[in-house]
Amino acid sequence: MLKEIHEQPNSVKDSMRGRLRANEGIIVLGGIRDYQQKLVQAKRIIIVGCGTSYYAGLVGEYLIEDLARIPVEVEYASEFRYRNPVINADDVVIAISQSGETADTLAAIELAKAKGATIFGICNVVGSSIARTTHAGAYTHAGPEIGVASTKAFTAQLTILSLMALTIAHERGTITESRYHELLIELEQVPQKISLAMENEAQIKYIADVFKDSRNFLYLGRGYNYPVALEGALKLKEISYIHAEGYPAAEMKHGPIALIDEEMPVVVVATNESAFEKIMSNIQEVKARHGRVIVITTENNRHLRESAEFVIEIPRTAEPFTPMISVVPLQLLAYHIAVLLNRNVDQPRNLAKSVTVE
Ligand code: AGP
Repeated sequence: MLKEIHEQPNSVKDSMRGRLRANEGIIVLGGIRDYQQKLVQAKRIIIVGCGTSYYAGLVGEYLIEDLARIPVEVEYASEFRYRNPVINADDVVIAISQSGETADTLAAIELAKAKGATIFGICNVVGSSIARTTHAGAYTHAGPEIGVASTKAFTAQLTILSLMALTIAHERGTITESRYHELLIELEQVPQKISLAMENEAQIKYIADVFKDSRNFLYLGRGYNYPVALEGALKLKEISYIHAEGYPAAEMKHGPIALIDEEMPVVVVATNESAFEKIMSNIQEVKARHGRVIVITTENNRHLRESAEFVIEIPRTAEPFTPMISVVPLQLLAYHIAVLLNRNVDQPRNLAKSVTVE
């Protein structure tokens, strides 16, 4: 798992390789070209997946709605397949799966296909069942992911979703030329920024040691970082067996705040500059109840540095791409806590790498 976490600067670069030519303002997603107009003209996009791939889908919802202005619904494949969903022939479904073999995701695709929808796949495993069943798609090219807890597949999925959202937005004219070019240049720099985010590993290891005996963790994030909070909590649960919950930061006061006391570490993912004020007040609410705050934020954020017990700094990027960088310290935190607790991080109990049965 550690090897796969550290591979991310390269795996994200590999996901972009031959697809992103930032200086020329070009994105080429060969696997979707024949069906690209379906995406561009879609009235609605439905994203399905399970676990980490579902969380990537949630980031996809923010990306596509924010940049391309098409309504997106994201659904657990397992729920979608059994709830008699309304699917129209002009709907577009994006199925996300690292393995390409997840039974629930495969069944959701079959269902949507039978109703006439166009299906795009985002898979890591070349020639997998999902890659073969979909009409079009893009491989993530992250390289084989062996660790049961998904890490580099997630950031690669986010890379493809970013490229897709930018392609649709550009064709639909929902972002200006200059913003499109700025975002392309920014996206190209993400791999290098992931490398920089990893330079905090010694500090993260120290924080892991401080909190390794906690029984519960709360992860909070807003906007693009809400799915990152969910993913951070999932990583911790899977490999350390510590109970962790991810929440949209503003929802804390509607329930989870009751859990907060001196025993509750709260990890706040606060890189969205547009929401700093609000995040600051969430942190104050946690501190007032003696909760212990660990903040992931961008460099030189003096206010957050003063108010949290631990601050992990990551490089600044354009808001739509923050999840690719902000998730890295959360992967490392989960990893180091699990190692300190002597867990088998690569083969956690009760879990399989790919869930090919219901
Ligand atoms: C992630 O860390 C998990 N092991 C799990 O949630 C996984 O993402 C899920 O089972 C979906 O797998 P897939 O991407 O291969 O479809």
